[in-house]
Amino acid sequence: MNPATKQIEINQPGAHLRLVSDRAGNAAPGITLAGVSKTYRSRDGDVPSLRPLDFHINEGEFFVVVGPSGCGKSTLLKMISGLVHDPKIMLMDEPFGALDAMTREKMNVELMRIQRETGKTVLLITHSIPEAVFLADRVLVMTERPGAIAAIYDVPLPRPRSLDAMADPAFTELVQRIRKHFFTQSALD
Ligand SMILES: Nc1ncnc2c1ncn2[C@@H]1O[C@H](COP(=O)(O)OP(=O)(O)OP(=O)(O)O)[C@@H](O)[C@H]1O
Ligand SMILES: [Mg+2]
Repeated sequence: MNPATKQIEINQPGAHLRLVSDRAGNAAPGITLAGVSKTYRSRDGDVPSLRPLDFHINEGEFFVVVGPSGCGKSTLLKMISGLVHDPKIMLMDEPFGALDAMTREKMNVELMRIQRETGKTVLLITHSIPEAVFLADRVLVMTERPGAIAAIYDVPLPRPRSLDAMADPAFTELVQRIRKHFFTQSALD
């Protein structure tokens, strides 16, 4: 393995995650997550929370995850944060969930400014589809529990983005497309 490639692994009954961090400037530098799965063992029996998920986060990418309540988003982030000791990646679990809508928009713009200036990779979880599309380079959409990958979408909006990006037809179209994943589900906020 290339010396610039680091591989870390959790492999326990109920939990699996392999995380490969590659800065060697290969085809896709960044972090590859392989076979991420988790089953909580509780007194009432097993709770399968994540199916094996495989995806790649590019170096410097703004990567956002949306999915229904209880599908395993926080579980996913906690498992990754247990393995990543890399200040280059910011892991954020619904950071703006408690804010009023206008403050939230300001924080979104501020977070994008920080990301642009620092070049950090961001992995962020949100319940808000518009927030996901506004912030992300790519959006990973999860299914209901046990969470699997429903789809990964590229966001075709140029950067830097201002709030005006939300008036772009490409924005509205992608928000609608992601929303369709949840039309038959009531679990999203
Ligand atoms: N310690 C635990 N023991 C048993 N089950 C658990 C435990 N922690 C989480 N779960 C279950 O695993 C599933 C995934 O939980 P998780 O918190 O990752 O979901 P989430 O997608 O972050 O949900 P939310 O959108 O509500 O934050 C849920 O059904 C939850 O009830
Ligand atoms: Mg959560």
